[in-house]
Amino acid sequence: MSVMMMVNCPVLFGPGCINEVGGKFKDFGSKKVLIVVDKIGAQLGFTEKMKQILKDSGIESVAFEEAEPDPPARSVDMGGKLAKEAKIDGIVGIGGGSVLDTAKGINVLVNNSGSINEYFLTAKGPVPYKPGVPLLLLPTTAGTGSEVSGSGMITSAAGEKRPVPMRATLGVVDPELAVSLPPAVTAGCGLDAFAHAAESMTNTMDNIYANMLATDAIGRITKFLPIAVKDGKNIEARTHMSFSASMAVIGLGLTRANLGHACAHTIGAAFHLPHGDLCGMCLPETTRRNAQFVPEKIRRLGELMGLKISPGASPKEVGDAVASGLYDFLRTLGVKSLKDRGLKREDLVDRHDLTEIMMRDVCWATAPANKMPAETFEDIWVKFYDDYQ
Ligand SMILES: [Fe+2]
Repeated sequence: MSVMMMVNCPVLFGPGCINEVGGKFKDFGSKKVLIVVDKIGAQLGFTEKMKQILKDSGIESVAFEEAEPDPPARSVDMGGKLAKEAKIDGIVGIGGGSVLDTAKGINVLVNNSGSINEYFLTAKGPVPYKPGVPLLLLPTTAGTGSEVSGSGMITSAAGEKRPVPMRATLGVVDPELAVSLPPAVTAGCGLDAFAHAAESMTNTMDNIYANMLATDAIGRITKFLPIAVKDGKNIEARTHMSFSASMAVIGLGLTRANLGHACAHTIGAAFHLPHGDLCGMCLPETTRRNAQFVPEKIRRLGELMGLKISPGASPKEVGDAVASGLYDFLRTLGVKSLKDRGLKREDLVDRHDLTEIMMRDVCWATAPANKMPAETFEDIWVKFYDDYQ
C-alpha cells in the first residue's frame, strides 16, 4: 500500500507504487511522455516497463536512454533536443541520481532555448526560465534523493559539477526498484544518503526540522544499509533505505551538505569515480576537521552511529573517534579504496588545483572547517588515499 507525503514536492512512497505513474500523468493532463533512463536501466527493462504502464493509461511515450554518469551538459542538451522534437508534455526519469538529474536538466530545456550550460545557478541566483512539463522521478538506488531535491547536478562544459534549479512535480519512491542493485552499488548509494544526513546535521546551519530528519536517517542507515548490502532482496531493509534517502535529502534541502560533499564533488569531477562512494570515503577526514569547530554536533553523529565517546573528550578526540567509526562502517560495507579503484597516489599529489576547485563548490560555504586557511587543506586529498586502504 502506498502513502502520500507532502515535502519539497509530493512523494508517493511504497512497494509497487511505480504502477500508479500512468494514472498520475493522466491527472496532470499529459498525453505524450519522455522516458529518461541510462543504458543499464534500459537493459534492466525499465523503459519497456514504463512504456507499458503509460500505455495502460492511454499515454504515448518516447525514450531517451542516453543518460550518463556525472551527467555531462552535452547529454542533457541531446535529451532536450529530443524532448522538443517529440513535442512531449511530460517527463519521467527512472534510475540513479544521474538519470534523475538528466531528466531535471531536460525539463529546464524543454520550453527554453540554448544549452543547459546557460542555466546553472549563479552567485547572483537562478537564471530565469519558462517552467517545464510535469516531471515524475523514480529513484532506483536509494541514495541521491534527487527525486526530492531542488536542483540537478550537471557537469558543465568546463568539467565542474554545477547545480541547475529544478524540482520534480512528483517523486515516486518504490523500494522494489532497488532490489536488483548489486551490493557495491547499494553500499555507495547508501553512503551518499548517509553523507547527506551527516553533513546536514553537522554544518554551520541549525534547523530543528532538518536535524530530526537527519538523525532519524543516520539511525536507520547505520542499521539497515549493511543488511541491504548483504541481502539485496530484503524488502524491509530496502524500504528503510529508500525512505532514509528521501528524508535525508529533504533535510539537506533545508540546510546544505558541507566539506564532505565539497571534496567528493571535486574528486568526482576530476577522476570520474562514483559520487556515493566518494562521499563515504571523504566523510571521516572531513568530519575530523569539522570536529574542531562543531564538536557537539560531531559527537551526536557518533552517538547515533552507536559509538561510545567519553563525556570529557576533547574536540580532537571526538573527531578521531567518529572518523575511526566511519572508517569501520566503510569496511563493514566492503567499500573499495581509491587505490583499489585504480587511482595512483601521484594523481592526487599532482593536482594542485583541487583545493581551489573545492572552495568554489556550493557546499564549502556551510562547512564548519571553512574558517581554516586554504593551505591547511592541501594534504586532505592524499589523506583520502592513505587513510583508507
Ligand atoms: Fe550526494
